[in-house]
Amino acid sequence: MRYADIYRSWKDDPEAYWLKQAEAIDWDEAPTKALFDRGNHMYEWFADAKVNTCYNAVDRHVAAGRGEQVAIIHDSPVTGTKHHITYAELQSRVANLAGALRAKGVEKGDRVIIYMPMVPEALEAMLACTRIGAIHSVVFGGFSANELAVRIDDCTPKAIIAASCGIEPSRVVHYKPLVDGAIEQATHKPDFCVIFQRDQEVANLIEGRDVDWHAFQYGAEPADCLPVEGNHPAYILYTSGTTGAPKGVIRATAGHLVALNWTMKNIYNVDPGDVFWAASDVGWVVGHSYICYAPLIHGNTTIVFEGKPVGTPDAGTFWRVISEHNVRSFFTAPTAIRAVKREDPNGELLKNYDLSCLNALYLAGERADPDTIHWAQKVLDKPVYDHWWQTETGCAIAANPVGVEALAVKVGSPTVPMPGYDIEILAEDGTPKPVGELGAIAIKLPLPPGTLPTLWNAEDRFRKSYLATFPGYYETGDAGLIDEDGYLYIMARTDDVINVAGHRLSTGLMEEVLAGHPDVAECAVLGAKDQLKGQVPIGFVCLTKGVDRPAADITRECVALVRDKIGPVAAFKLAVVVDRLPKTRSGKILRRTMASLADGETFKPPATIDDPAILDEIAEALKTIGYPN
Ligand code: COA
Ligand code: AMP
Repeated sequence: MRYADIYRSWKDDPEAYWLKQAEAIDWDEAPTKALFDRGNHMYEWFADAKVNTCYNAVDRHVAAGRGEQVAIIHDSPVTGTKHHITYAELQSRVANLAGALRAKGVEKGDRVIIYMPMVPEALEAMLACTRIGAIHSVVFGGFSANELAVRIDDCTPKAIIAASCGIEPSRVVHYKPLVDGAIEQATHKPDFCVIFQRDQEVANLIEGRDVDWHAFQYGAEPADCLPVEGNHPAYILYTSGTTGAPKGVIRATAGHLVALNWTMKNIYNVDPGDVFWAASDVGWVVGHSYICYAPLIHGNTTIVFEGKPVGTPDAGTFWRVISEHNVRSFFTAPTAIRAVKREDPNGELLKNYDLSCLNALYLAGERADPDTIHWAQKVLDKPVYDHWWQTETGCAIAANPVGVEALAVKVGSPTVPMPGYDIEILAEDGTPKPVGELGAIAIKLPLPPGTLPTLWNAEDRFRKSYLATFPGYYETGDAGLIDEDGYLYIMARTDDVINVAGHRLSTGLMEEVLAGHPDVAECAVLGAKDQLKGQVPIGFVCLTKGVDRPAADITRECVALVRDKIGPVAAFKLAVVVDRLPKTRSGKILRRTMASLADGETFKPPATIDDPAILDEIAEALKTIGYPN
């Protein structure tokens, strides 16, 4: 089979195609039909099936006699520990945790928030939830108590599972006080919290509410896998939108299983038993799909890496992990490779390791710049594959289908649409753009299995955010083009979402926080280009009339405020005070124009600009913080 044949066979009969792929999943009741059209552009996949995610990710491998295969390798340079968990061990650990959750009243459909660092217990918590049909929502550890509280109020969890702490190279992150603070701030209160006490820090447990991870499981009857309907949500993952409120992306159970399983061979080219490593965090979609679910569903060994690309202890860490654990396919964000390149430009540290086990490097999460790809190709002497996807889709929209046919790599392109994705480049009025021309990237509905059916508690927002602009299409929020060979190029976001070190962040949220500072009358946050992180946010604040405190004090407070309200992950370190913001005559702030100034790009101010002289003031302000750099 070649890529073109597979893509055509999907396009000719999408339902038959996905029913065929569904045969790789162990169903309690097999689907009789693939697609359920709920009307008004709402769709569900395999809704009449019954299935359990945890069974497919864990138990079925044990039942097939592979219980002694390693399921999870925890490699933690920040704690100096490594350990292996077999599928049989994982099954018993997850069944016990699930049983203990159930004994405390967690049932099918209940939500459970997970707030944990990169420890295997995070995956066990996710799997324990899906085992009993509870819906987990993992929150990234770099978010603040405030952001955790927002998520608690939105998904109203019955329980929170957290670790006592996380370990960043520069500090211990005290998770438990963040959990306590979030619960205090939130209107909704969970019934109980399960705290995984780490050796590095033992947290104080609140009597009557908090239970210890181990003690709570003692004597609990292990839980069996509960079959759920194919359209039952496996999880909710919050992601940044243009406003301050995060979007709760729902992942429906059956489509998730079918789609992820498909990708492991066809895109990542691994067979069951192979070691697969995604160096990301369980708090992001890459971590959900490729640290936890996909490798386990497919019977691979996954690596939970608790460290950074550099500094833990050096820029050779990735290569050490790959060679030591025999990694066959490796996935990370371009920013991580840039960090390694910066520390070890000639790849000297690579010489210490035998990377013959590695087939390829996969990059996603942000635009993979040609320099980074060329560098990685050169030092690794392996194929480097960019692929493009979003939290909403759960796996690649466009990729190089290496397990089917390795297509020629065009640097700068994530290659071609995967089956399920009919991509078009549209003009603002919804008409298709000719080959090679830039436009909004839209996907013809229905989206394939595994993609979001809607947003948690926010169907209107789902429609407005994704379906309203181009009727009959899903709007990706990315702009790009398709070339004469059908290769896709992703050029920019069409909204105010920025991408900092592979993390998707909302400038709208940062603006909301800055506007909360008592001395700030008006503000704008934009993403400026950054050599390491891709983009970093810069805040411009106009002060309330009459405020005459030193600007440096106010900007320092603004930086601290964003860190406190959103979290260190926002990487908000640059703010400047300006008199005025550039706007159109109708009052719209010209953020893109300001970003061009910060990036040192030549540009033509929009014809609708109210007062072009303000751009000079902005350029002066940027100089004070070293931009353009
Ligand atoms: N818990 C608590 N804090 C966290 C955290 C976590 N899980 N992850 C990051 N942070 C903190 C960091 O300590 C840092 O805090 P600081 O401002 O006190 O230094 C801040 O959040 C920003 O972190 P980060 O963006 O990771 O920057 P960095 O300078 O520490 O590291 C890189 C830069 C490039 C090495 C790092 O961003 C990286 O490894 N990126 C990979 C990206 C990735 O995996 N993306 C997922 C999508 S594939
Ligand atoms: P997230 O939902 O956090 O995974 O972020 C998704 C967004 O990251 C996409 O909409 C793109 O803007 C960007 N992105 C992800 N992968 C790529 C890629 N390979 N090339 C360009 N942009 C990407």
